[in-house]
Amino acid sequence: MNRGIRRVKYPTENKELIYWVNEIEKWCEPESVYWCDGSSEEYDRLAQLLVENGTFKKLSDAKRPNSYWAHSDPADVARVEDRTFICSASERDAGPTNNWRDPVEMRDVLNGLFKGSMKGRTMYVVPFSMGPLGSPFSQIGVEITDSGYVAVNMRIMAKMGQAVLDQLGRDGDFVHCLHSVGAPLAPGQRDVPWPCDAENKYIVHFPETREIWSYGSGYGGNALLGKKCLALRIASVMARDDGWLAEHMLIMKLTDPTGSVRYISGAFPSACGKTNLAMLLPSLPGWKVETIGDDICWLRFGPDGRLYGVNPEAGFFGVAPGTSNKTNQNAMRTISGDTIFTNTALTPDGDIWWEGIDGEVPPNLTDWRGNPWVPGSGTPAAHPNARFTVAADRAPYIAPEWQDPNGVPISAILFGGRRASLIPLVTEAKSWEHGVFLGSVIASETTAAAEGKVGNLRRDPFAMLPFCGYNMADYFAHWLSMGSRSDASQLPRIYLVNWFRKDENGKFLWPGYGENSRVLAWIVARLEGRVGAQETALGFTPIPEDLDTTGMSVAPQVLETLFSVDSTKLIDEAEDIARHYQQFGEDLPKELSDQLEELRRSAAI
Ligand code: GTP
Ligand code: SPV
Ligand code: MN
Repeated sequence: MNRGIRRVKYPTENKELIYWVNEIEKWCEPESVYWCDGSSEEYDRLAQLLVENGTFKKLSDAKRPNSYWAHSDPADVARVEDRTFICSASERDAGPTNNWRDPVEMRDVLNGLFKGSMKGRTMYVVPFSMGPLGSPFSQIGVEITDSGYVAVNMRIMAKMGQAVLDQLGRDGDFVHCLHSVGAPLAPGQRDVPWPCDAENKYIVHFPETREIWSYGSGYGGNALLGKKCLALRIASVMARDDGWLAEHMLIMKLTDPTGSVRYISGAFPSACGKTNLAMLLPSLPGWKVETIGDDICWLRFGPDGRLYGVNPEAGFFGVAPGTSNKTNQNAMRTISGDTIFTNTALTPDGDIWWEGIDGEVPPNLTDWRGNPWVPGSGTPAAHPNARFTVAADRAPYIAPEWQDPNGVPISAILFGGRRASLIPLVTEAKSWEHGVFLGSVIASETTAAAEGKVGNLRRDPFAMLPFCGYNMADYFAHWLSMGSRSDASQLPRIYLVNWFRKDENGKFLWPGYGENSRVLAWIVARLEGRVGAQETALGFTPIPEDLDTTGMSVAPQVLETLFSVDSTKLIDEAEDIARHYQQFGEDLPKELSDQLEELRRSAAI
C-alpha cells in the first residue's frame, strides 16, 4: 500500500534518491519540496517566480526575447578558490595545490551549517545528466538546491528533469550534490534578490564518496554543481581511477578549404579564450569552425587507439565583457534570446550592455549592482566576470555531432594562458611527454573569473589548478600514462599557444580572435607534414613565412618577436618552473624533472 502512495508522491522509484531527499528535507527544513521535470513550461514558471521575487528582471521581448537579467550580491561574483575544499580521506591525495580538510571534521561543520539552512524556501530537486542521456560516458547527478536561480540555470547547462530520473531507474547511481545559499528566512521575513551567505562559503568535495556540498554562494561554478564540481573535480577522480581524462577544455571542429575535418581541444585557464576559440569565425577564407564545447572535455581512447572527446555540458556559461560582433559574432547571435544574463549592465529600454559590446555607450545605464551608472566614474558598468547562460543548441555553428555519445577524435590539444612575454604565439611540443611538461607548467595572469587579485602571473597546470580533485602530481603521472596507452602516431599532438603577448607599451602584439585561425591553419599544416619549423628550447615554432598572413597587416618584426624565445628570460622561467615543481617533492614524475633539466640545458646554450 505504501508503495502505491510513493508512486504518486515521487517522480522516481530510485530508493536511494527518495531516501536522500527525505533526509535532506528533514535536516534543512525547507518550506516545500519541488521535483524539477525539466519542461519548458516549468522553466517559464520558475523564471516568472524569480521575476516576482526580484531576482530576475525580464528583458524587453522586442530586444531580447525570453531573456532575463540578474545581478548578484557584490560579495558573490565569482568562484571562491580559497573556500573550495577537497576532503579526501588522506591529505596526500588532495595534494599541495588543493585546500584539504579532514572529511569527518568537515562533515561536522557542514551538518551545522545546513541544519535549517533552507527555512522559508523551496527545496528544488534537480536531476541532471552530464553528457548525452544514456551514453555510457555520461554521469548522472542530482542537485538539491534552495535556489530557483540555480534550478533554471541548471536546465540550460545540463540535460535536466524527468528524462534523467527515467534513465536513473530504480537502482541507478548518482552523484549527490547538495546546495544551499545559506540564507534561511524567518517567518514573514522578506527575501532579497540575491540570497547568499557573504561571509561564510564552503564549496566542498568528497572524492571517495563522490559527493558535493556547497554552501553560501549562488554564483556560477560555486552553485551550478554539474559544471566544475562534478564534471571536473569529481570527474577527474573518476577519470584517474578508470583511465580517462576530465579536462577544462573547449572542443572545436575545424574544416579546411579542401573540406577535410579535424577536431581540436584546448585548455586555457578561466577567462583566457576558450569560448571565443570554440566559436571562432576564421579570418582566413575557406576555413570553418563549428563548436562542440566551450569549457569541459572528457577524453577517452576509442577502439582505434585515438582519443575521443565529449562535451558533458548542454549550455554555455560565458564571459560577457569583451564579447561583441567584432570579437565573437557567433556568441552574439547565440545570446540574441533565451538567455540569462548575470551581472551585466542594463539599458533603460530593457536590454543588456557591457564593456566591449558593439556601438555607443547608451545613456542612463543601470550598473551590475543595480545602481545608475556614471560614465567615467572609474568603475565598470558590467562586472568583469559578468556571464551569459545559454543553451548550446542556440549557437548558429554548433556542430551537428556535438552530442555524439562516442565523442569526436581529437587531432591536436592546445594549452594556453595569458603571458605578456616569453611564450610564443604557437609552439609545437616535441612529444607527448614534452607536451605534458608544457601543460604542467602553464602560467597565466589571473582573471576576474575567481575572487582575488587580477593580473598576477601564476602557474595553472593544464588550466586545472582550481579544478583537479586529487593530487596534482598524480594527475601529471596520469597524463603521462595516458600517452603510453596508445601508439604515438595515434595520439593528438600538443601545442602551446599565447594570444596575449604584449609590446613594451602594454599593447597586444597579436590581434587574436578570428585571426587565430591562421595559427590553426599552421597547426593543420604541421599535422599534415606540409611545413617545417624552427626548433627552440620550448619546442617547434613557425618559420615566419609559413604563417598565412594574407589579408592582414602584421609587421615582419612583430612576427619575428611572436615566434622568438628570449633565452635570458627562459633561464628565469626554468628557475620559476623548478620552484613550482618543488611543492610536489618526491611525487613529481621523473619524466617531468628530466624535461625541466632538458629545458635548463637548452636555455643555457
Ligand atoms: P571561462 O568561461 O572562464 O572558462 O573563460 P574562457 O576561457 O571561455 O574565456 P573567453 O573566451 O570567455 O574569453 C575571456 C576574455 O578573453 C574575454 O574578455 C575575451 O574577449 C578575451 N579574449 C578571448 N580570445 C582572445 C584573443 O584571441 N585575444 C585577446 N586579446 N583577447 C581574447
Ligand atoms: C571558469 O571560471 O572557468 C568558468 C566559470 O567557466 S565558473 O562556472 O563560474 O567556474
Ligand atoms: Mn571555465
